[in-house]
Amino acid sequence: MSSAIEIPRQSAQVSVSPSASPLAERSIHSRIKQTSSAGMAVRQPKVLHPLENEDLRLLLLENISQEAVRAFQAQGFTVDHSAKAMSEDELVEKIGQYHAIGIRSKTKITERVIKAATKLLVIGCFCIGTNQVDLNTASKAGIPVFNSPFSNSRSVAELVISEVVGLSRQYFERGYEMRQGIWNKQSKGCWEVRGKTLGIVGYGHIGSQLSVLAEAFGMRVLFYDIINIMPLGQARQVESLTDLLQESDFVTLHVPELPETTNMISQAELAHMKKGAYLINNARGKVVDIPALIEALKSKHLAGAAIDVYPAEPGANGAPFDDSLNVWSTELRQLPNVILTPHIGGSTEEAQRMIGEEVSLALSRYLNYGGSVGAVNFPEVDLRAITADQGHNVRICHVHNNIPGVLRQVNEVLSPYNVEKQYSDSKGDIAYLMADIADVSPQDVNKLRELISRTSANILTRLLV
Ligand SMILES: NC(=O)c1ccc[n+]([C@@H]2O[C@H](COP(=O)([O-])OP(=O)(O)OC[C@H]3O[C@@H](n4cnc5c(N)ncnc54)[C@H](O)[C@@H]3O)[C@@H](O)[C@H]2O)c1
Repeated sequence: MSSAIEIPRQSAQVSVSPSASPLAERSIHSRIKQTSSAGMAVRQPKVLHPLENEDLRLLLLENISQEAVRAFQAQGFTVDHSAKAMSEDELVEKIGQYHAIGIRSKTKITERVIKAATKLLVIGCFCIGTNQVDLNTASKAGIPVFNSPFSNSRSVAELVISEVVGLSRQYFERGYEMRQGIWNKQSKGCWEVRGKTLGIVGYGHIGSQLSVLAEAFGMRVLFYDIINIMPLGQARQVESLTDLLQESDFVTLHVPELPETTNMISQAELAHMKKGAYLINNARGKVVDIPALIEALKSKHLAGAAIDVYPAEPGANGAPFDDSLNVWSTELRQLPNVILTPHIGGSTEEAQRMIGEEVSLALSRYLNYGGSVGAVNFPEVDLRAITADQGHNVRICHVHNNIPGVLRQVNEVLSPYNVEKQYSDSKGDIAYLMADIADVSPQDVNKLRELISRTSANILTRLLV
């Protein structure tokens, strides 16, 4: 994992000396190569440091990987880590000393916590969702929140492929019978998947991965999406959901949970599906009307289903999955050829590792370089790197209220300098400006920060030098 966190080194420019090879002088080709290599000397990025926070402190909770801890330590951050989540009271007591916090889903970053977080610059959610953070309060405090929404796409796609085969061969049923001590060898109603049609609803990160895997199995792939998307391989986009339902042997859902996708597959849609087809839902629980699905399975219109997500899901492992949670749980559990899994679509070691890499990288990038691309609650801004030969360049990272007149005030402060590059964007009430200023003398650096911090819309101003 540490390999994913690139720490640009402050090294001299790389150039190729013409005398590097004894053969060089002998051939025209070598001479041409030398000339062009020398002309393309690589300009190394400068390593930036926060002006006021040489000793940045990070708090990593909920057993975030040791690789992430080591990678942060290697960058000179002081890291405190714990395998456990913290309660709101514990956080309120401790958060004041930290510049960054990394959590998973159990630690709640509430308004009270953010108000106590006087030094906090950034929050990393080492997971998919960000519901555990009060995003609005965080953005108002100038704190971006990063997560890792797509690192488990491949894991979900692989689970779906296994379910396509599992449903087709009924092996979950057979395996269950074996565990009861029953030998029940069958071929009736069991099929190869080669040549069958897979209908993918939602051709995003997961749907498109799945498309490639399914074709490798010899399946024909159709997809339906609300936007026009270039198909991968031989896949074909269809005009309507009904077209897809009528043509597919397997229908698999990969759309987000939205008002438009709630009960997207209900009685009428199930009736459009081919007799003997299968339905797979690894998207979100509310996308399928489960009582309607139960009826379609009981009437044998559908030959099976695989469900990984439910309208209501238990909060912890070991909790019952019964009718107190969803009134139809018992009925669903008793149906043949229905694969039920506890929301494990994206749960693999690889996905966890990728989440660790992606979120660590986002936190380091923001702390060291100011780039906020990928933040969920904050304007997404980045600038190309300051190079090592631009020794006295300074980067300004200015979070401010999104009101008229801010740029005029900031640019007045910057007017005596050469602004090498500047970029600003807004999201709701918050705006973020990054600017690289050339040749700022060490005596001027503090003055610059102070003047910008004093502008009327200032939320947070950092200088990276
Ligand atoms: N089971 C799990 O563990 C697990 C893990 C990861 C993601 N998911 C879920 O999988 C779903 C898809 O994830 P993704 O990363 O591929 O998302 P994505 O945003 O990359 O793709 C979603 C696609 O759905 C399309 N879409 C949106 N509304 C639609 C509609 N009404 N009809 C047809 N298409 C529509 C979008 O245009 C987009 O192409 C999400 O609901 C996500 O929460 C589940």
